[in-house]
Amino acid sequence: MAESELTAKDDLREEVRRRYAEAAKSSGATPRSSGTTPDTESSSCCGERSVAGSAGVFGATLYGEGERTEAALGASLGCGNPTAVADLHEGEIVLDLGSGAGGDVLLSARRVGPSGRVYGLDMTDEMLALARANAADAGLGNVEFLKGEIEDIPLAEGSVDVVISNCVINLSGDKPTVLREAFRVLRPGGRFAVSDVIADEDMDEATRSDMAQWTGCIAGALTAREFREGLAAAGFEEIELTESHRVHASAASAIVRARRPETLGDPPLACSLSGDAMADRLAELGALFRQSLLGADRDGATLSLQLRDSPEVEERLARLVELERACCPFLEIELERRGGCLQLRIEAPAGAEAVIDGFAELASTRP
Ligand SMILES: C[S@@+](CC[C@H](N)C(=O)[O-])C[C@H]1O[C@@H](n2cnc3c(N)ncnc32)[C@H](O)[C@@H]1O
Repeated sequence: MAESELTAKDDLREEVRRRYAEAAKSSGATPRSSGTTPDTESSSCCGERSVAGSAGVFGATLYGEGERTEAALGASLGCGNPTAVADLHEGEIVLDLGSGAGGDVLLSARRVGPSGRVYGLDMTDEMLALARANAADAGLGNVEFLKGEIEDIPLAEGSVDVVISNCVINLSGDKPTVLREAFRVLRPGGRFAVSDVIADEDMDEATRSDMAQWTGCIAGALTAREFREGLAAAGFEEIELTESHRVHASAASAIVRARRPETLGDPPLACSLSGDAMADRLAELGALFRQSLLGADRDGATLSLQLRDSPEVEERLARLVELERACCPFLEIELERRGGCLQLRIEAPAGAEAVIDGFAELASTRP
């Protein structure tokens, strides 16, 4: 990955961390043991600039009567109620991505009972401290808060039954990695049940580039189409996305559900690369396309690319083709010299069309 890209992602993450550390401090003095109600209005971040007239915390009202204490206890900064749709069962293992003050972790812990376990993952120390204090107050022994990033989940492959999250994925600067990580930690057949903000396709550039709108959960939101494509590219199936309510002039809150297949295809229909390796590969392909791509044609799940014929391009392309065949063995990739240029043909089987979408998008960024 280019150094400037890495710095931009790091800067973004630091800005998000700073904002949520502030949010934790402004509500964090009030875990339940203090006997006061958390000041959700002043501590809200997601939704601070949401639809005019909303109370700022644009998901808290979606919790049922019996759940409100827990939701308020967690000073919810979410945009929905993922626990309401996750259909949790006794004994299940749940992971909450970006658990904040822990409201959804505590609700889930009651649902899975003492034979289950709920992990809350968050990168912000102040939020983790608040969540741990709230869990201690609630007297729940089946919860654990982990420090870490949702782009690099500190849990083993196939170790959880359900991944939930409430208004956090939109904050990440690397959403494909988050979705691949969620897929990795889920057991085969495991469920993904998330509330998140979904951007309208026509969200304007001024909103998109406003950092306050990013840390406020709006500017970084995927569109519904991008969310579906990202989940499919990560290997998920049974993808459902349902808008629940508007949270901004150009964005809505949505419930997103998907499942890790019971058995992986043979070969699996998702790229085996993850994290930085995937980002490096995309950067390398993007650079080659920008320098030497002459044309691109898409026909369903087949993409044909024409590249300038030179020994240097051929060598780089041949190397990348070998690497792609190794990480995406389900793709049919042919490289040949035809019509005075190098012709690259990539075909995906049914169910892996999103991989072709990714290549086509890379090809569309050429000057
Ligand atoms: C909008 S708040 C939502 C908190 C909680 N889910 C809720 O509903 O109240 C976002 C939370 O995600 C955490 N977060 C944001 N980006 C993260 C990342 N990349 N890795 C881990 N935690 C992250 C923040 O520290 C913050 O606690």
